Amino acid sequence: MLLKKLIKKSMPYSKLSTINTKIIIHMNDVWASYDAKNYSLKGITLSIERGTNYAIVGKSGSGKSTLLKLINGMMNPSKGQIKVDYQTPNMNKKQFRKKMSKIGYIPQSLGLVKNISVLENVLIGALPRIGRLNSLLKNFPKYEIEEAKKIIKLVGLKGKENRKTYTLSGGEKRRVAIARALMQKPVLLLADEIVSELDQVTAKEIMDLIADAQKRLNLTAVMVHHDMKLALEYANRVAVIKEGQKILEIGIDGEKIIDFQSGNISQQEIMELYNNESEK
Ligand SMILES: Nc1ncnc2c1ncn2[C@@H]1O[C@H](COP(=O)(O)OP(=O)(O)O)[C@@H](O)[C@H]1O
Ligand SMILES: [Mg+2]
Repeated sequence: MLLKKLIKKSMPYSKLSTINTKIIIHMNDVWASYDAKNYSLKGITLSIERGTNYAIVGKSGSGKSTLLKLINGMMNPSKGQIKVDYQTPNMNKKQFRKKMSKIGYIPQSLGLVKNISVLENVLIGALPRIGRLNSLLKNFPKYEIEEAKKIIKLVGLKGKENRKTYTLSGGEKRRVAIARALMQKPVLLLADEIVSELDQVTAKEIMDLIADAQKRLNLTAVMVHHDMKLALEYANRVAVIKEGQKILEIGIDGEKIIDFQSGNISQQEIMELYNNESEK
C-alpha cells in the first residue's frame, strides 16, 4: 500500500505506450565479476519489451553500469544467459559487432571527442555504414551530413554545428551524445545516467527528447537513473538494483502500477529511495 501511495505522489504525466510485446533483451540468472572473485551482479533475471523505456535505478556501486556493459557486449557474464535481439552480446564476435552498430550506447562519461565540432561528433554515429576507407578518410557522403544536421536541429542545437564540443554546457553535451546515438539509426538506446547532475528543467527536456525519438523510431531505451522520480515519470518499467541484485521491479501503465517483484524490498528501503533521490 505504501509503495503505491509513494508512487502516486510522483505519477507520470508524459507516458509512452507499450508498442508490442516482443522481448528484445532477456537476462537469465546473470552473474558478473571484474576479478573472478567479487560479483558486481548476482543473479539478475529480467526481460525488456521492444519499444519500451526501461529504467534501472540504484545507489552508486549497485551494478547499474555493469548491467549496461553486459547488454552492449563490452563485458561477458560469469554465469547465466543474455540475449539481445536473439543474439548473445559479445563485442569480440563479428556477428554481434554488426548488431552493436545499431545499439546507441551513451556511457556515463558520454564518450565525446572534445576537440572536434558538434557536427563531427554526431557524424561518428554514421561511421559503421560509410565503409572502412571512407571512415578512415572521414569522407562523409553529403546525405549523411544533411542527416546529421537534421538530428542536431532535432536535439535543439541548431546553429551550434561548428562549435567545438568542449565549449558546450553539460546539457548541450548530453544532447550531442544523444544526437550521435540517433545518427546510428539505433534499435536500442543504452544511456548511463545521462540526466544526472542536470537541473530539473534540462533533465526533463532531454527525457522528452528521448521519449519523442522512441515514438518515432519504435526505439527501446534502457536508461540508468539516479532519480527514482524521473524514472517513474518516463519509464514503462522500473527496476531497482541493490548490491548486484534486482530488489524491485514495477510496471507503469497509465495510472496503474503493476507489481512484478516487490517481495525483497522493505518499506524502509522504499522510503530511503525516495528520500535520497528526490531531494535534488
Ligand atoms: N572496471 C572495474 N574494475 C573492477 N571493479 C569494478 C569496475 N567497474 C565497476 N566495478 C565494481 O563493480 C561494482 C558495480 O559497479 P557499477 O556497475 O559501476 O555500479 P553503478 O553503475 O551502479 O554505480 C562496484 O562495486 C564497482 O566497484
Ligand atoms: Mg554507473
